Amino acid sequence: MALLKIIKHPDPKLRKKAAAVTEITPELLTLADDMLETMYAAPGIGLAATQIGRQLSLVVIDISEEKDQPLTLINPLITKLSSGVVVNEEGCLSVPGIYEEVERAESVTLNYTNSEGEEIELETDGVLAICIQHELEHLDGKLFVDHLSRLKQERIRKKLLKQQKESM
Ligand code: NI
Repeated sequence: MALLKIIKHPDPKLRKKAAAVTEITPELLTLADDMLETMYAAPGIGLAATQIGRQLSLVVIDISEEKDQPLTLINPLITKLSSGVVVNEEGCLSVPGIYEEVERAESVTLNYTNSEGEEIELETDGVLAICIQHELEHLDGKLFVDHLSRLKQERIRKKLLKQQKESM
C-alpha cells in the first residue's frame, strides 16, 4: 500500500473527465487500496481517482465512524435523484480548509461495480447520498465549489493559490 498525492484546486487536472474502467485488473485493485489508505490518512470520507491524477471512473468512500466499511465504486452511475433536497456543509481534500453549504438531492439510486466485479444497485440517503453526489462530480471534472457564487469561487481560488505559494 502507498500514500498517493492528492491534487489541489485549482490544478487543471481536477477538471478532466474520467474514462470508464474496462477491466478489473490487480493494478486497479491496488490503486483502489492505495486510494483508501490515502483517504483514511488525510483524513476524509471519499476520494475520486481524479483527485490523484487518474482519469478513471473509480471512487472510494467510507463514512463509518470506525473506518471499517470501505466502498469501492467502479463505473458508478446515479440513475435516480430524489426531488427532495438537503443543504449540508461540505469540504473536499482537494479544496483544503474550505467548508461551504451545498444543496444536494436527499436520496440517490446508484449503480456500480464493486471490487469483486459484481453489479450493485444501491439506494441511499443521508451522508452517504451526499458523499456519492460529491465524489461522482469529481469524475465529471467538477468540484463542490462550482455550486457557489462566482465571487465566492474567485475568493476560494485566490486563497488556495496563496496557501500553495506559501507552502512551496
Ligand atoms: Ni472532493
